[in-house]
Amino acid sequence: MSSYSDICPKFEFEEDDYLKATDIKKVACIGAGVIGYSWATNFCMKGYPTVVYDVFPAALDNAKVKIGEYIDILVNCDVFSKEVGEAAKARVSYTSDLKEAVQDAQFMQESGPENYEIKQKLLAEIDKYAPADAIYSSSTSGLLISEIAKFSEHADRCLGGHPYNPPHLIPLVELAKGDKTTDEVVQTAYDFYKLIGKEPIILRKEVLGFISNRLQNALYREYVEIVSRGVCSIEDADKALVFGPGIRWGILGPTLTWQLGGGAGGIKHIFDHIGPSMDLWLKDMAVWQEYPKDWGAFAQEGVNEEMKNRDKEFGNTPEEIKQFQNKALIELLKIHKKL
Ligand SMILES: NC(=O)c1ccc[n+]([C@@H]2O[C@H](COP(=O)([O-])OP(=O)(O)OC[C@H]3O[C@@H](n4cnc5c(N)ncnc54)[C@H](O)[C@@H]3O)[C@@H](O)[C@H]2O)c1
Repeated sequence: MSSYSDICPKFEFEEDDYLKATDIKKVACIGAGVIGYSWATNFCMKGYPTVVYDVFPAALDNAKVKIGEYIDILVNCDVFSKEVGEAAKARVSYTSDLKEAVQDAQFMQESGPENYEIKQKLLAEIDKYAPADAIYSSSTSGLLISEIAKFSEHADRCLGGHPYNPPHLIPLVELAKGDKTTDEVVQTAYDFYKLIGKEPIILRKEVLGFISNRLQNALYREYVEIVSRGVCSIEDADKALVFGPGIRWGILGPTLTWQLGGGAGGIKHIFDHIGPSMDLWLKDMAVWQEYPKDWGAFAQEGVNEEMKNRDKEFGNTPEEIKQFQNKALIELLKIHKKL
């Protein structure tokens, strides 16, 4: 393999006169769906005046309710006081006028529909009204930022800022550069996401599915494989992760976990020692490239059984389980000092 520093170089800047994270005073959330209103919650609770835009007034009404509920949950979990929560809610304004939303914003988080044409049209409108150096960060899950910004006059200020749902709680944001995005824009977005408590990571090349979805799918392919082979039930495969590697991965990533597991010899020792066994496992593992067509229905039956079997205190319905998940997530985030 090439050397680590060749593959992962650091950014270096020649100029110093670009918009910095500390220059960001107002944020616009474009698109007020599931991701948009969660992002707005994050921005307002970190002190930023936030304007939420959507073409549909009903979406704005719904966003207002959801932002209120998210803030109330955080108050109930002692993340901040009721007064602080009310002040956060008061920082959010709502509009279906795009010009009003972006004309004095320095940072725009776009969470509109996952469709090139819609995002390109939105960006053309944004180009007309937003300050030229305001950053445009798209929440897109799978579209290429180069393609979204293909017709933009300001493609240099556009990047992908891919969150994990719900963005106001999950710290990860994956930053993707397009072919015209400047390193300075990426650096400012990175610094800004840090300021609002996120854990941004920068993709040095555009790649389908970003980092986390690729990792998640690589693991899930093997999950499908062992359940389909009859090795274990859905419930046991979930337990094998939650009470095994998953609980460790919520604290440290796999390489750092193995660094500790290797004792004085670190990860190098793990690979020298157990590497040959791991090669054997790899040879027996799934390599197929399309999920079985009936997996969804099959898994549904297994997960229904799993929900029924859970201890009552951890929830048996999706709504109860979600409440448990939220509470546990908030506790873990407090340990990571992300809330
Ligand atoms: N849902 C997820 O788990 C998830 C996770 C990460 C990223 N994303 C990405 O976030 C973006 C939004 O996804 P979502 O799940 O919030 O979708 P959503 O359907 O809940 O919300 C989209 C919103 O965009 C609005 N909209 C429609 N046309 C518009 C226009 N022309 N201008 C502005 N707003 C418009 C809709 O009214 C709706 O409120 C997508 O790009 C998606 O890929 C979603």
